Amino acid sequence: MSGRFVTVDGGEGAGKTTQMGFMREYLERRGCRVVATREPGGTSLGEEIRALLLGHRDGGMALTAETLLMFAARAEHLERVIRPALAAGYWVLCDRFTDATYAYQGGGRGLSLKRIAVLEEWVQGALRPDLTLLLDLPVATGLARAGKRGVADRFEREDVDFFERVRAIYLERAAHEPDRYRVVDASQSVEVVQAEVETMLAEWLESD
Ligand SMILES: Nc1ncnc2c1ncn2[C@@H]1O[C@H](COP(=O)(O)OP(=O)(O)O)[C@@H](O)[C@H]1O
Ligand SMILES: [Mg+2]
Repeated sequence: MSGRFVTVDGGEGAGKTTQMGFMREYLERRGCRVVATREPGGTSLGEEIRALLLGHRDGGMALTAETLLMFAARAEHLERVIRPALAAGYWVLCDRFTDATYAYQGGGRGLSLKRIAVLEEWVQGALRPDLTLLLDLPVATGLARAGKRGVADRFEREDVDFFERVRAIYLERAAHEPDRYRVVDASQSVEVVQAEVETMLAEWLESD
């Protein structure tokens, strides 16, 4: 049997990485074999590309270059990790995926969403996540949490308006495709978010 592809997305400090750990444990308790991974990254080349994308550089980076690097890392990730794991029956839990490209490069930086859709088709073919958990919270709350993590990466240094546009695209995409997305209010405590995520997963597993 082929596995399920679950992605976790949302803004800075939403609790994606925190909840990924709980989700992994929960799914393993339910008997699923899980591969947990992240984007950009998830492979050795992908992690090198991640360092290029998140690191600070004089003169910044052209938006087209940034977007193509995201999809270059994704192509490697799909070919070497995601598709083989799904084919072998693993659940793939991914911390950010193509929704983040729509939200950050599209919403945040203003790249045409149609351009992103072309790359999505090219790199992914028909593959889309079976389920996407969107952790949603006010921008200021997320930035305050992320700020405690230490040195800000190239994206975390953007201004509040940028992150408002990121949030808006995530919510728009979720509203447009309610079957694939589950939106959880991530401004609540870790425990409450965890409980809601587990209920959501349980319902999804039962309906599947
Ligand atoms: N629901 C929550 N309430 C308060 N703090 C949280 C919550 N979820 C995560 N955090 C904390 O906020 C910071 C960012 O969480 P993290 O999981 O790294 O977010 P993300 O991966 O979405 O950027 C961490 O210090 C984490 O412990
Ligand atoms: Mg994270």
